[in-house]
Amino acid sequence: MTAAHSTAEVSVVGLGRVGLPLALSFADRGLTVTGVDNDPARLDAVGEGRMPFAETGGQDLLDRVHASGRLSLSERVADAARARFIVITLGTPSFSHIEIDMRDIRSALDDLLGVLAPGHCLILRSTVAPGTTDFVAGYLAKHRDFDIGEDVFVAHAPERIAAGRFLEEIDTLPCIIGGVGHRSGEVAAELFAAFAAPIVQTTPVQAELAKIWANILRYTNFALPNLLMMDCERSSANVFEVIDLINRDYPRGGIAQPGLTAGTCLRKDFAFSEERSAAPGMLLAVSRVNESVPLFLLEGVKRRMGPLANRKVAVLGLAFKADTDDERDSLAHKLIRLLERELADVSAHDPHVPTPTVSLEEAIDGADAVIVATDHAEFRYPRTLAATTERASGDCLVVDPWNCWGAAQVFAYSAELAALVAS
Ligand SMILES: NC(=O)c1ccc[n+]([C@@H]2O[C@H](COP(=O)([O-])OP(=O)(O)OC[C@H]3O[C@@H](n4cnc5c(N)ncnc54)[C@H](O)[C@@H]3O)[C@@H](O)[C@H]2O)c1
Repeated sequence: MTAAHSTAEVSVVGLGRVGLPLALSFADRGLTVTGVDNDPARLDAVGEGRMPFAETGGQDLLDRVHASGRLSLSERVADAARARFIVITLGTPSFSHIEIDMRDIRSALDDLLGVLAPGHCLILRSTVAPGTTDFVAGYLAKHRDFDIGEDVFVAHAPERIAAGRFLEEIDTLPCIIGGVGHRSGEVAAELFAAFAAPIVQTTPVQAELAKIWANILRYTNFALPNLLMMDCERSSANVFEVIDLINRDYPRGGIAQPGLTAGTCLRKDFAFSEERSAAPGMLLAVSRVNESVPLFLLEGVKRRMGPLANRKVAVLGLAFKADTDDERDSLAHKLIRLLERELADVSAHDPHVPTPTVSLEEAIDGADAVIVATDHAEFRYPRTLAATTERASGDCLVVDPWNCWGAAQVFAYSAELAALVAS
């Protein structure tokens, strides 16, 4: 798998956490695929048969595809036009101006403009702000005079998988397709028929809204218990007990549990709605709540322990969510930055992420405070709490917004926590 030399059936532009599993899945279904990425390290890894990040079943899939010879690679976006279907899986961050940052997509479009021809179908798989698919279609029509939906096809088919579940969800999650003009939806559906998932046709803007509002729903769902956690601290109440009171045998309950809520998708997708919201500020407030959790935890530690200068604080978990190696936009890093600004001695442990960390034992040895920042499965084991009780300082403060050990205390001293768990 080196340079692309032959015509492919589908090209995938951007071999990231979405694009690479998608490209491999198409190849695994028998399609010839060109994968495009402008990061030479990414191309080297894939070309050498190494998954550059963790995805359940990803390495086995890459091994199969590698052996099949159905994936070729290129660093030139223009090479994507060798295939009839071009799927864009580039990153779409948001500017701090509360506005989608489309620079990667614009750059790819400019690279493709001169090489697109009648018959091509361009599918936006990236998450985009409402109106982006129509913009892309308009851009192609403006610069190349294509009749979109008749001779060139443009559609949005948002990626809705959760990291780590790609290979299961690609065949099960309904595939939403919003095509521009008369035939784009139908043509894009020909490609996604490679998977077993049902296809749901809609308009481009409805596809865009459905994707970002699914993430807004999750982001808001988690902000509510996080805000409740802060309010409980102010009222000397126990958030886990209040949540239990809300949910227990109550047909209209269902509030989620608190935690550090982040990750690239949730952190930025709300901005794509917020940029032209009818209620500006509402989703910003949701974001502010989730972004305040590290500060809330830090303040809670300081209230109980006093100044943190030269105190050892162990942070367990750097990934943005449980059991992933993805650290992008993780609030654990924000927490560490805040702790360092208090002159604390921070030691971090995470068994999954690429950032080098110390062992669990080294992290918690003699620690004055242990903060569970990510609820990795390993941290939920009773032995992790036992190790903390044994190795940390006698009056170590344990901060567990996830309730990993079932003691139902956001802040508790290790001996107290061990007694609660044992009881
Ligand atoms: N990660 C997820 O779980 C997830 C889930 C659903 C949707 N999405 C959306 O999917 C899109 C992609 O997300 P991701 O996490 O895969 O991003 P990513 O950053 O992991 O991948 C983007 C890839 O594109 C490459 N790239 C950047 N500019 C390029 C260019 N001009 N030409 C060629 N390659 C270029 C990068 O090197 C990178 O490998 C985003 O819109 C994201 O919001 C992500």
